Amino acid sequence: MEFQKLLKERHSIRVYQDKPVEEEKLNQILEEARSAPSAGNLQAYKICVVKDKKAREKIAEAANQEFVAQAPVVLVFLQDPNQSSQKYNRRGEELYSLQDATIACAYAQLAAADLGLGSVWVGAFDEEEVAKIIGVPSNLRPIAILPIGYPAEKPAAKSHRPLDELVWEK
Ligand SMILES: Cc1cc2nc3c(=O)[nH]c(=O)nc-3n(C[C@H](O)[C@H](O)[C@H](O)COP(=O)(O)O)c2cc1C
Repeated sequence: MEFQKLLKERHSIRVYQDKPVEEEKLNQILEEARSAPSAGNLQAYKICVVKDKKAREKIAEAANQEFVAQAPVVLVFLQDPNQSSQKYNRRGEELYSLQDATIACAYAQLAAADLGLGSVWVGAFDEEEVAKIIGVPSNLRPIAILPIGYPAEKPAAKSHRPLDELVWEK
């Protein structure tokens, strides 16, 4: 899809069709997320793919957001502070690894939209609980959940603050 159109047509989707996401599409999303820039190209993040219904339900519970379980695929993006701190010390540990994971998730969200799939960034969840459900070591921090599925709603575009509220020249 043409990039500007993609940006215009991507909306957060919280209602999904009862239809699986094809493996090829899921792989394409993961490949495109993998192409994201990262500090020093260290790619200090991980992605856990959750398809198991019970696990999705538990994640939804940990987020207290029921729709998460409805999506046939749920991606959990994790920050890998150690990967980045080796080269960038505290800035890598606290900031770059978080940004690496964030950018990868943003890429995945756009990749999903490009394939006609819906997703929503879920940031409100119990981190410890989600880490336990997906079984990751304590050095990895879940920072975003991205449920993905075929949309069953067509939300209107959200308004955005005008540029002059966001941008200034110095
Ligand atoms: C960091 C972040 C955290 C978010 N957390 C949640 C969340 O926990 N639950 C939810 O339903 N939406 C969440 N959202 C989605 C936003 O509500 C949504 O992106 C915003 O309202 C703009 O709508 P749009 O995505 O349709 O443009 C989050 C988005 C971001 C970027």
